[in-house]
Amino acid sequence: MIVRGGRRLSGQVTVSGAKNSALKLMAAALLAPGVSVLHNVPAIQDVSTMREVLEHLGARVDFADGTMTIDTVDVTSQVAPYELVQRMRASIQIMGPLVARFGQARVAMPGGCNLGPRKIDIHLRGLAAMGGTVRSGHGFVEVTADKLRAIDMFLDYPSVGATENLLMAAVLAEGTTTLENAAREPEIVDLCKFLVSMGAEIEGAGSSTLRITGVNEMHTAEHTVLGDRIEAGTYLIAGAVTGGEVEVTGISPHVLDLFLSKLRSIGVQVHENTRSVKIWGDPTSYVGVDVATLPYPGFATDLQAQMMVLLSLAQGVSVVTENVFENRFGFVDELARLGADIRVNGNHAVITGGRALSGAIVRCPDLRAGAALAIAGLAAEGCTELRDVYHIDRGYERFEEKLRALGADVERSVAGEVSCPAT
Ligand code: UD1
Repeated sequence: MIVRGGRRLSGQVTVSGAKNSALKLMAAALLAPGVSVLHNVPAIQDVSTMREVLEHLGARVDFADGTMTIDTVDVTSQVAPYELVQRMRASIQIMGPLVARFGQARVAMPGGCNLGPRKIDIHLRGLAAMGGTVRSGHGFVEVTADKLRAIDMFLDYPSVGATENLLMAAVLAEGTTTLENAAREPEIVDLCKFLVSMGAEIEGAGSSTLRITGVNEMHTAEHTVLGDRIEAGTYLIAGAVTGGEVEVTGISPHVLDLFLSKLRSIGVQVHENTRSVKIWGDPTSYVGVDVATLPYPGFATDLQAQMMVLLSLAQGVSVVTENVFENRFGFVDELARLGADIRVNGNHAVITGGRALSGAIVRCPDLRAGAALAIAGLAAEGCTELRDVYHIDRGYERFEEKLRALGADVERSVAGEVSCPAT
């Protein structure tokens, strides 16, 4: 991707459906035989991978213009192969629904990834407590159960994935399950809404205690995916670093509360409407702030990299503490190539701001870091060449097109036919 910096972004951009909700809703469709319909599904690579996972199991999936129909009548396999799981870790979210409906799931171990080891012990401990037999070997983890039973479980950590897997298992378990210290992300609330429309009985969605009373069977349903708050935050930062004026629509600003309050502390002007947020500001007046990532409603780890770009421009020293994932500062060396001054010590990054960024060749190490580097390119003087941009395609729908609509000079170089001029 070629990014020519120095343009002020302005205009309105509508966010797509949330990646982190759509993937789990697709998995949840496995809970009921028949055809479920999802609207506002983003056309991104991770959704294509989850589609492949479902098709591998025997589901028939159609996807056009944001609407996906998932027919699970012919699901005969309960196996997710390594080839798909290693491409997308969220494939493991089929485990709960498959064990709940078919009594078994065999999923390749996700293994490490570039955000650290990312264990699945809480998922497995919960399924075992529900009566599942967990076996692992040959790179696979297998869970079998005749009938799942309800549990009272206090999660060691409010893991998003574990909360979702256990929630999807509990909807068909015998009795009332209580999950305490559950994750509270808006995408989990969205999943609860879909499950309830499929016949589930769930109390406490959006709180840290979920109470799920198992039902005998689930039925198909239709649902619209909520807007992507991470995509929203990404475009707001893109606007802020260029000194632009950008309005993001399609989300409730409430899901970005802490993020928006950090923007205000930095000196970015923020105006909230019911279903949109508008920002504007002058980067020469921004000041640094400290940020610590935490589970929702804390500061989202998925916006940490983008925030580091903004803090590199702001005056003064900022400290960013990453509490959710190990190895999430892997992109710092790339950002340094554009001129940022960041020192990393363990899970802390100390950013000395007020830097003028300049375009260079950089490599995207992961999805959010990729978006952050593109944003840095927008703020940089000159031309930036981003490599390994396939990471960005995993989670951002029409990324360049949306940025171009805001006035950015961004283009994809498909076979190396466009490049930055030699410097
Ligand atoms: C989801 C999101 C991801 C986001 C993350 C945190 C999807 C597809 N991905 O990932 O974009 O960054 O939430 O908001 O929705 N952990 C354990 N044991 C477990 C499970 C997790 O130790 O059994 C640890 C992980 O190693 C990690 C932390 O908990 O350090 C957070 O993981 P989790 O909340 O599960 O994130 P994901 O569901 O993988």
